[in-house]
Amino acid sequence: MEPLIRVENLVKIYRTGRVEVRALQGVSFSVFPGEFIAIMGPSGSGKTTLMNILGCLDTPTAGRYLLDGVEVSSLRENQLAEIRNRKIGFVFQNFHLLPRFTAFQNVELPLLYAGVPRSLRVRRVRELLERVGLGDRMHHRPNELSGGQMQRVAIARALVNDPALILADEPTGNLDTLSGEEIMAIFQELNEEGRTIILVTHERDIAQHARRVVHFRDGKILKNEDVIDRISAKRLLGELKKERVVQEEEP
Ligand SMILES: Nc1ncnc2c1ncn2[C@@H]1O[C@H](COP(=O)(O)OP(=O)(O)O)[C@@H](O)[C@H]1O
Ligand SMILES: [Mg+2]
Repeated sequence: MEPLIRVENLVKIYRTGRVEVRALQGVSFSVFPGEFIAIMGPSGSGKTTLMNILGCLDTPTAGRYLLDGVEVSSLRENQLAEIRNRKIGFVFQNFHLLPRFTAFQNVELPLLYAGVPRSLRVRRVRELLERVGLGDRMHHRPNELSGGQMQRVAIARALVNDPALILADEPTGNLDTLSGEEIMAIFQELNEEGRTIILVTHERDIAQHARRVVHFRDGKILKNEDVIDRISAKRLLGELKKERVVQEEEP
């Protein structure tokens, strides 16, 4: 299988005046279609910088980024915008909803830009808001919604163009535990449908929903950890222990 994402030796240097910050110092990894990856790491380790590059919101100082086999770093701004709209859904920690717009209008906006006719827009927006459990909140504005509800509007908006890849930068960072779990349940469902998800978090509990955890430190990948493997290893260990107990109980 071809990777959906391949980055090689990604470097990002921010220059502000005479200060240079090396936010990414040679990051290489691949993401295959259908994966659910959590990126963990301390504050300032370069997670958002990486997500912005993966989401085509920013470009690297050096290195290669192939999305679906296409070298992204060589594309012009209008081509990048096209990829952003068609292939990627972005979910942010602070929701990034337009405050004067209703939930419906916030989700509708990308479809308006794409020139989708009104009847189709209405059907799609309704379907998505219902899917995230907001069928009865369509005409509420963000300040009339809870944090968890705002994030669900943002997820509906991210899904509106049916993207294969969903990038979420600390989507539960501003939510209470219960709302965070509800959001994670939605991401898990989306992954089970076959969507590829990359999610940044610094909470262990949240990362447990992913199937692979990439640990980040100082702009570099520290290690990759397979959650599925760890879970099955634990289960296996539990079964071995049980077996031993049974054996020990036998006279
Ligand atoms: N636009 C920017 N200009 C200058 N420095 C930045 C900018 N964005 C991030 N940085 C710096 O790059 C480093 C990585 O930041 P960031 O990617 O936001 O980390 P994280 O998301 O892991 O907290 C930090 O030292 C941060 O201060
Ligand atoms: Mg960040």
